[in-house]
Amino acid sequence: MALKRLAVLASGRGSNFLAILEQTRTGYIPAIISLLITNNPDAGAIQNAQKNDIPWRIINPKDFTDRQSFNDKILDELIWAKIDYIILAGYLKLVGKQIVDRYSNKIINIHPALLPSFGGKGMYGHHVHQAVYDRGVKVSGVTVHLVNSEYDDGPIVLQRCVSIEKAKTPEEIAGTVLKVEHEIFSQAIKLMVEEKLHIAGSRVEIIGD
Ligand code: GRF
Repeated sequence: MALKRLAVLASGRGSNFLAILEQTRTGYIPAIISLLITNNPDAGAIQNAQKNDIPWRIINPKDFTDRQSFNDKILDELIWAKIDYIILAGYLKLVGKQIVDRYSNKIINIHPALLPSFGGKGMYGHHVHQAVYDRGVKVSGVTVHLVNSEYDDGPIVLQRCVSIEKAKTPEEIAGTVLKVEHEIFSQAIKLMVEEKLHIAGSRVEIIGD
């Protein structure tokens, strides 16, 4: 059977992108990364794509008159590259409805906290870890979820807790959480690509578990 084709959408440094790439190369994830799309011309993810011979595109909302045409362009590229699944790895833009509809339950996102806490619009990157730190919670963690048209709202695939009782700074929390991101994102992507997710409303059951 032909390997499934993944597109990664990323806005930043791209460490999750690299972790996933590694797991496609070992064969743990039975798929290939066929395309990187970024909205940010300075994204570190671009260098990672170049070094690894992965086609990449910058699609920046600033170059479009409205969100509809920005998302139409992304969808065109996804279709042209025959993409089966979309991985949001630190992608900071809301995915357009036309993409969510076309790729229903085939878009997956990672969030560096335990949803539904510390999520939603504006809760990304260091803002999440700062809010977690300021609130003084003793555990944080990672959530991998399917994507709908709201920020951080789709059915949850996997979550993992991390004790942060001893963390002295938001940066320390971010570092601890990132290590776990790199582990469970690949696990969740493998489950999605192998069609082991049964979705019923907000619930995801893992087939065979
Ligand atoms: C990660 O913490 C991810 O959870 C969040 O943005 C960060 C991206 O990191 N959405 P990287 O670009 O994958 O290194």
